[in-house]
This record gives sequence, C-alpha cells and structure tokens, in this order.
Amino acid sequence: MRVVTGIPEMKALAGEWKAAGRTIGFVPTMGYLHEGHLSLVRASKERCEATVVSIFVNPAQFGPSEDFQRYPRDLAKDSATLEREGVDVLFVPAAEAVYPPGYKTYVEVRDLQDRLCGRTRPGHFRGVATIVLKLFNIVRPDVAFFGAKDAQQTVTIEKMARDLDLDVEIAVCPVVREPDGLAMSSRNVYLSPDERAAARVLSKSLAEAERLIREGERDASRVAARVKDIIAGEPLARLDYAEIVEAGTLEPVAEVRGDTLILLAVYIGRTRLIDNLRARVEEISSC
Ligand code: PAF
Repeated sequence: MRVVTGIPEMKALAGEWKAAGRTIGFVPTMGYLHEGHLSLVRASKERCEATVVSIFVNPAQFGPSEDFQRYPRDLAKDSATLEREGVDVLFVPAAEAVYPPGYKTYVEVRDLQDRLCGRTRPGHFRGVATIVLKLFNIVRPDVAFFGAKDAQQTVTIEKMARDLDLDVEIAVCPVVREPDGLAMSSRNVYLSPDERAAARVLSKSLAEAERLIREGERDASRVAARVKDIIAGEPLARLDYAEIVEAGTLEPVAEVRGDTLILLAVYIGRTRLIDNLRARVEEISSC
C-alpha cells in the first residue's frame, strides 16, 4: 500500500490510473476505522481496479463547540488495517494543504443541509460537501462508497453529485452493527460502559418502529411517538430528533408509504449518536 500525503502526488497517481483505464474506487473517511469502514473498502475492492482510502479529520464539518480536537485518531493502526485489506493508496492530506491560508470556497446543498442534523450542527453539511467535492477532484473516483448510517450525508452528497454533474457514482452500503444492534461509529469509543449499554436504545427503538410498520401502522406521527417513548424510557438518553421523511428528499411524511427513512439523533451522555431505518411500504430493511 502506498501512503500519499501530497495533493499533487495523489492527483498524478489518479491521472496515471485514468490514462491506463483503471477504475478508481474511493472511500473517504475520518479514520479510527471500524468494520463499517472496512465494509466500504471491501465493496470498493470488489467493484474497482484500484482503491483509495482517505483519512482526514475535516475541521470544516465540526462546529466550534464540537469534538474536532478529541475526535479519535490512530493513523498507525488504521494504516496497518488498510494494508491488510489490500488497499492501493492511503491518502492522508495535511490540513494546511486542504485549507491553505486564505481559503474561501465552500459548497452548500441548500435546504438538505439545514434540516435534521443540520439544525443541531449548522455548517456541518457545508463542511462535508466541501471536503467531499475537493477529495473527488483530487482522487477522481469512478465510484465513491459511503455508509447508510449517515443517511443525510449520503442524500446530500448524491444531490451535490447530480446538481454539479459530477462523473462519480455514489454507492451506499448497509449499516454495520455491533452484535447488540448498536450501529458502528468511531464516536462509540466515547461511551462509558453504562452509556454503551444505554446506546442500545437507538436500534431498539428502530426495531420497534419496524415491528409497528410490519404490522400495518402507516401513521408516521404514531410511529415517531413510539420511537420517542422508547428513547424517553432510557435515563442516559436525550432525544435530539426522531423524524420520518421521504428517503430521496428528506421531506417529512405524514404516512409511512413508498420509500421512507426513520431518522434518529440521540445524545447518550455528551455523545451524539445517529441511526436510521429505511422503510419501504412492503419491504422494511435496516440500511
Ligand atoms: O463520514 C465521514 O467520515 C465524513 O463525513 C467524510 C465523508 C469522510 C467527510 O469528511
């Protein structure tokens, strides 16, 4: 595995691969890799001839009182893991190269960026869209792989790719869960043992929503109310939001029909966790 830190070097390599007709798969990450990330790497290796993984803790997507400084980092371990996975290039750009002094350009996906997580984390999706577009321009992937846990992120990136006519396919891979149902996240490391046990409430509440829908409940407010009740029953949990939305637009729905997402953000102690359930009228699956 080649470790590339320079943007010009990464661009040159991508250019060589393009010239040779090799398909490039790309997995953008902020590191501290878990099985969720590795499922994306494996999907890329299966579909593409060269796989690039980036590790960059992107300051532009953290608010001033968020966890940018303490976000978990372990580059040596991540690098060894990616080497074992047979990744071609690990791209680790320096923050000063990505956002040099005087940097001024940001990408906004209006409306999508402001709802749901965007209400609690203003500026977050602007930071995500900006870094993802920059990385796409550097790595020039044919296919970029994202996890379905970050549902609003994937919808935002898909919209950006369509609106800006990007030549990249956005592939969304299923949520990877711990044996007890907790969606894998680098932030799970923040949880104390008690909080870790309490965090099961997210997937438990979504499982209950799935059960209700399977049994025929179509009233979105009743499903959301049940989810909120279950969260409220966990003393260490504080709800940020639980909403049922149309999967492509993230617009709220009154009825669970067609392709919908039940989206959840919950504080467990100081740690904010997200999770979701994709519900199609006849077919319900955790995505
Ligand atoms: O999902 C993440 O880890 C980040 O938001 C991403 C896509 C790597 C952009 O920094």
